[in-house]
Amino acid sequence: MLIQKLRPRRMRISDGMRAMVRETELSAKDFVYPIFVVPGEHVKEEIPSMPGCFHLSVENAVELAREIYRLGIPSVEVFGLPEYKDEIGSSAWDPKSPVQRAIAAIKEAVPELVIVGDVCLCQYTSHGHCGKLCGEYVDNDETLKLLQKVAVSQAEAGADIIAPSDMMDGRVAAIREALDGDGFTNVSIMSYAVKYASGYYGPFRDAADSAPQFGDRRQYQMDPANVQEALKEVDLDVAEGADIIMVKPALAYLDVVRRVREHIHHPVAVYNVSGEYAMVKAAAQNGWIDEKRIVLETLTGMKRAGADIIITYHAMDAAKWMQ
Ligand code: PBG
Ligand code: ZN
Repeated sequence: MLIQKLRPRRMRISDGMRAMVRETELSAKDFVYPIFVVPGEHVKEEIPSMPGCFHLSVENAVELAREIYRLGIPSVEVFGLPEYKDEIGSSAWDPKSPVQRAIAAIKEAVPELVIVGDVCLCQYTSHGHCGKLCGEYVDNDETLKLLQKVAVSQAEAGADIIAPSDMMDGRVAAIREALDGDGFTNVSIMSYAVKYASGYYGPFRDAADSAPQFGDRRQYQMDPANVQEALKEVDLDVAEGADIIMVKPALAYLDVVRRVREHIHHPVAVYNVSGEYAMVKAAAQNGWIDEKRIVLETLTGMKRAGADIIITYHAMDAAKWMQ
């Protein structure tokens, strides 16, 4: 007769025992909450494909920022819809645009909150691509000059972290140079170093009105099949001076998060994107899954994969559930 001596179940016998041996602890401190600011006043409109997320005018964004901070979430990332669009996306560096005004107002109202500014042009260009076009091709080096202006304008408004999401080559170095040249040596760069051309951005593109008007983003965002290329992108961005390295999306790329975590000594961020959020919300609204369990389990998985920072639309709910 087999005498069973090895019993891992002993470590699962009670809440107390499980807590003692738990390896990954999720916390509100891990989160960055993305917000969408829009022109106008008194705007608070729910985004249809992202239930629980809103288009907010600046004063409402400030109200939300206070609540985010009260929940123990250390950071917000500010996205915006501009008042006007043109070929080169010039509203992206207009100090009167909603993003710049929101950054300044939030910094004033909640100075302890770490403000991340998303730097890209797709919300601001009439064609919806992430840079300046040359024919149907996004011109890399011309775009860098514009991204420098966006980064500096957000730093001037009060952003603590600049997060370029455009996927142009050399943008981290270009932005670092521009920030330093204007005296913003203490403003950090969180690079969307590993950003895949993903179907999971769908709801965001509706929310931010940033879908490309022709073609897609595969000439600048990465092929979902590649991981060596991810490490190459990481190496370049580290060499160019990135302070934090991001992988995006999260769920289908947790192996990439693990590889990146083991490859560098920088903080690693993961972006739990709009499509991932929308799928959970839709299933939960249908009563098919237990939202709280699924969200906490999923976010724990991201942290276990190696993420130090999780950018997620679930941040406020998760922070409340963990209180
Ligand atoms: C803009 C940008 C996108 C996201 C963040 N910044 C969309 C895109 O690249 O088309 C996606 C965020 C999300 O889906 O939650 N470059
Ligand atoms: Zn873009």
